[in-house]
Amino acid sequence: MVTPHEAIEAIHGQYGVHPGARALHAKGRLYRGTFTATAEGKRLSTAGFLDGSSIPALVRFSNGAGNPRVKDKSPAPHGLAVKFSLPNGKTADISSQTAKVFITKGPEGLVDFIKAASAGAMAPVKLAKVFIDHPEALKSSVINAPTLRTPKSYGQVRFYGLHAFKWTGADGESRWVRYQWIPEAGEKYFAPHKAARISRDYLLDEVDSRLAQGPIRFTLRVQVAGPDDSTVDPSQNWKSDEFVDVGTLEITGRDTEREKDGDIVVFDPMRVTDGIEPSDDPVLRFRTLAYSESVRLRSGVERGAEAPHV
Ligand code: HEM
Repeated sequence: MVTPHEAIEAIHGQYGVHPGARALHAKGRLYRGTFTATAEGKRLSTAGFLDGSSIPALVRFSNGAGNPRVKDKSPAPHGLAVKFSLPNGKTADISSQTAKVFITKGPEGLVDFIKAASAGAMAPVKLAKVFIDHPEALKSSVINAPTLRTPKSYGQVRFYGLHAFKWTGADGESRWVRYQWIPEAGEKYFAPHKAARISRDYLLDEVDSRLAQGPIRFTLRVQVAGPDDSTVDPSQNWKSDEFVDVGTLEITGRDTEREKDGDIVVFDPMRVTDGIEPSDDPVLRFRTLAYSESVRLRSGVERGAEAPHV
């Protein structure tokens, strides 16, 4: 079984060590906004951020690479992390990225993949072995290939939550769902030859100019699991065609308060709230441990009791 320490070592092997930066999704920026649930969202889960009121949200857009100076043309997955400030004073997080499915059904696959990709001249041979050891990686790579294009804007790309969460409504009924964030402005990508010419920080700079024109909005859409959809394997696409729009995220401007003077922000998908339960997906469970290791290295702080229960 791979350990969080091994995972971070492998990531550092690929991207280098960048003191103070997140081990992955190192380049990003925090924003402020609100989230307002639809009546359907309120019906599906008793979670505080789905009560229909305007809930304050802290948002971070990021490039998935572990290098804080990565060029924005880099075709890495991009991230959208959202932290809701709940009416009960607590917080709940949704962490998503542009890849539609995870590369493998467990965390070992990602670590093997990262190690293979950083193996220099041996990389092709080692990557071939990853596909033999984790046969699901072939299918997930095909599904994800189109999502590796460079988006024209963080406000014009779709983000996926990948893992399954159990939502329970006030009527006591439960269903398994996966999250998607759908951009109100539609999806737009650069043609590869044009992406190569965009400036290093294009995507983050573009958010500022977009926000100067008005809020950036995303619809939170949940896909409700059908009988054949796995709740524990994030490398599999769900077949269900039941989708419900459960609320709108409105991003209004940059955050100017957090991550200053030793303040630490961690978006952890295991930080859920009443009305939402995490699945036993091993990737989801592993993430919280890897994030704690990254936080320890970037800030010196042991998350300890702060980390959501695993
Ligand atoms: C085994 C699988 C994974 C590992 C080892 C991993 C590792 C990491 C690490 C170390 C960080 C930095 C954490 C911090 O310092 O706060 C991070 C950030 C992030 N990860 Fe993952 N990750 C995994 C899977 C995923 C998946 C499946 C998603 C999307 C559904 C995802 C989305 C993100 C996002 C959006 C961030 C940036 C959060 C922020 O802006 O602070 N990761 N990941």
